Amino acid sequence: GGWSLHLRETVDSTNAEAMRLLMGGQSLPLVVLSERQTAGRGRRGRNWLSPFAENIYYSLALRIESSARRLEGLSLVVGLATLQALRALGLWDAGLKWPNDIQVRGKKIAGILLELTGDPADVCHVVIGIGINVNMIDAGEIDQPWTSMQLELNRLVDRNELVSELNRRLFDYLSLHADQGFSVFQEEWEANHIWQGRDVGLIAGSHQVRGQVLGVDSQGGLRLCVNGEERIFSGGELSLRGF
Ligand code: ATP
Ligand code: BTN
Repeated sequence: GGWSLHLRETVDSTNAEAMRLLMGGQSLPLVVLSERQTAGRGRRGRNWLSPFAENIYYSLALRIESSARRLEGLSLVVGLATLQALRALGLWDAGLKWPNDIQVRGKKIAGILLELTGDPADVCHVVIGIGINVNMIDAGEIDQPWTSMQLELNRLVDRNELVSELNRRLFDYLSLHADQGFSVFQEEWEANHIWQGRDVGLIAGSHQVRGQVLGVDSQGGLRLCVNGEERIFSGGELSLRGF
């Protein structure tokens, strides 16, 4: 069957709402969209600013079978699909920052948060949350450089059109990923990685590794050149800082 669509005016978090619907036995895949979030979530427990009617707050809940391989690189593929949806609306100069940030000239325009339940080695469920800054033009409390589609394109952007592109790209990219894994996306992903070649610090909790970004491996791990040697890093709690 198709994807069922659940529209809300206000929710705490579309990821939380999607998780409740899936726990309640709703048919999958399902999509939750809300006009606002009162407790939008970012990575590592951070807050995602979610004002009314300006942006897209989108969550897709899926069942994933024999999961381990099918989770490899999943969040990177979601980043790529989201990037292509932004391009379809005319935003050409956005790019990716490993693992799944979307930026325009160093400013964050979209964020992705995957949440899993079940056994990652067996059958599990994943909620793919995507927040896109669409028509937001001011926001008091964001503690890092950010932008929106309207700020970049100097026009109001039709959120319905963007959601329909997002659905289409996610469907295509996720189907291919489920069949073939991440390796078929490696090249396209690197071609859109604006942090390629940069000197970075990779932060993992209180540790930091310095190196130069080489790209991603066939499973979506980050390839860094550290003291002349290639090393691979993967895992959800890592983040890059520039030097
Ligand atoms: P990383 O840790 O990988 O460098 P990050 O610094 O972008 O990522 P995330 O946890 O991925 O941090 O994203 C949350 C951050 O995004 C928040 O701390 C805030 O700075 C910023 N943020 C919150 N709401 C928005 C929004 N609507 N648009 C853009 N940025 C936002
Ligand atoms: C990030 O920290 O970069 C990820 C932000 C993800 C925000 C989206 S908005 C829709 C979905 N619901 C949430 O509560 N978070 C994600």
